[in-house]
Amino acid sequence: MRYLSSGESHGPCLTGIIEGLPANLELHKTDIDRHLARRQHGYGRGARMAIEHDRVDILSGLLFNRTTGNPLTLQVKNRDWDNWQKLMAPEGERPPEALPLTRPRPGHADLAGGLKYNHDDLRMVLERSSARETVMRVAVGSVARMLLERFGCKFYSHVVRIGPVLSAVKVTEIAGLTREIETSPLRCADLKAEAAMLKEIDQARREGDTLGGVFELYITGVPPGLGSHVHWDRRLDGRVAGALMSIQGIKGVETGAGFAAASLRGSEVHDPVTCSLSEGIGRASNRAGGFEGGITNGQPLIFRAAMKPIPTLLNPLPSVDLKTATPAAGAVERSDICAVPSAAVVAEAVIAWELADAFLEKFGGDYLEEVEAAYKFYMETVSKRMRWPAP
Ligand SMILES: Cc1cc2nc3c(=O)[nH]c(=O)nc-3n(C[C@H](O)[C@H](O)[C@H](O)COP(=O)(O)O)c2cc1C
Repeated sequence: MRYLSSGESHGPCLTGIIEGLPANLELHKTDIDRHLARRQHGYGRGARMAIEHDRVDILSGLLFNRTTGNPLTLQVKNRDWDNWQKLMAPEGERPPEALPLTRPRPGHADLAGGLKYNHDDLRMVLERSSARETVMRVAVGSVARMLLERFGCKFYSHVVRIGPVLSAVKVTEIAGLTREIETSPLRCADLKAEAAMLKEIDQARREGDTLGGVFELYITGVPPGLGSHVHWDRRLDGRVAGALMSIQGIKGVETGAGFAAASLRGSEVHDPVTCSLSEGIGRASNRAGGFEGGITNGQPLIFRAAMKPIPTLLNPLPSVDLKTATPAAGAVERSDICAVPSAAVVAEAVIAWELADAFLEKFGGDYLEEVEAAYKFYMETVSKRMRWPAP
């Protein structure tokens, strides 16, 4: 599978085209919209989220709620376009009120992107580097997720840190806490921590500052054998980590015990293989986070990602005005104070995409029943091999 997306933060819409989906997969636009709404949710988001009400339109590749095998085109309109039509017009003369953005925000793509594409107006960078682009990643990832959910995969995420405040909830507990997480303004099931996180965000807002944090993902029902040890670019843990790192603002990714494993002994880190008459062959623990040798091993997948504080500051850091080459404060745009809960939802989507891609590499077919037959055959073979003692 592959996809391309396009669209600018204040342009008319975001578009995504997915190619390679099997035919006959049942899809409902409401399922995509549900995840788009989850992405918009979260305490600390800026005024833009009050304007937008993201909903997908499916423009090709779906007939009566079944994929056809043709490219699937998704579109999400930007409601804010009404306010930007003149300032962002693709044709005609630049109006005098379309002032160029010339003071790069430290921590954003403005300066590096402006140098790379030789833009005098850094808005051209901002418009695509903005995390508004993740609307389409969530829409596309939701389609991938629907494919995987048919085969029993389930996706969970929660926020474990906002600034200095930590949640006491463990990643292995979150599958049983979905109601608490989905109704929390911060995707945090630890109420005490949540209250302290809300206070931190209010405090940062008052001071014209921003916050980052950490979220975790837990994915169950993933069959063993996705990805491969045989070549570096087929190692699925690397592909997923790359996808997570590609989310705006993500600066660290761990799987399983992650960085903590570096200070422990092998006997404290690796997961013993167990065998019993009732359970067959299994694992005593899951510190590997569901990957060994870049291949899924049948255990739940565990990822953790760190997001830096939002770069646009109401109380801006020193920068320069590129027009005059004189010192100036970084530009101030309407902005989020903290977007860690939304980033967790985006992360679910990008992981779903990578897993679905690896899933179709292993079980691929042009229509769903072909995929189902390959999956069934393989899972029966795995189940025979994992029986103990062998029959
Ligand atoms: C869901 C989400 C929302 C974001 N909202 C903002 C925002 O309102 N203002 C901002 O300056 N950065 C925001 N960011 C982060 C920037 O897009 C990001 O820091 C910037 O593109 C530079 O990329 P980098 O941090 O990966 O280097 C957001 C990121 C995500 C994932």
